[in-house]
Amino acid sequence: MVQTDYASLIRQADALVRESAHRIANLANVSALLYTSMEGVNWAGFYLTEGDRLVLGPFQGNPACIEIPWGKGVCGTAAAADAAQLVPDVHRFPGHIACDSASRSEIVIPLHKDGKVAGVLDIDSPLPARFTADDLAGLARLAAVLEELVF
Ligand code: SME
Repeated sequence: MVQTDYASLIRQADALVRESAHRIANLANVSALLYTSMEGVNWAGFYLTEGDRLVLGPFQGNPACIEIPWGKGVCGTAAAADAAQLVPDVHRFPGHIACDSASRSEIVIPLHKDGKVAGVLDIDSPLPARFTADDLAGLARLAAVLEELVF
């Protein structure tokens, strides 16, 4: 099982974003931090809410689809349901949007501003069932830091 030291990751993310008010720059740095410090990850980044869709934000990994309608795919489902999605096998998720055919599992966490979903954090892995309840809890803590300091 792949494990991430979330206490350390969240300390680093906090330090990266705390001194800057530039949202795009902050999210770019956090996507780089996630991509370089999590094992078995082939995409890490953000989609940001624009009207009735999510639009690609800062990320690390292969080029990805730019627009995701609210309710579509794993990201759109997380946004519409306002609920994190832990997907052990993306091939079994109805409507999964395959940006990288190597991706096998995925985790998506909604991010809020003023009580609304302002975007999502999306992380993909080429490993089946890469993400666990530990990742869900750790990334929810990271999301709370981003909601406080970035959104
Ligand atoms: N798989 C996602 C699309 C985004 S890529 O994974 C970067 C989805 O189904 O929403």
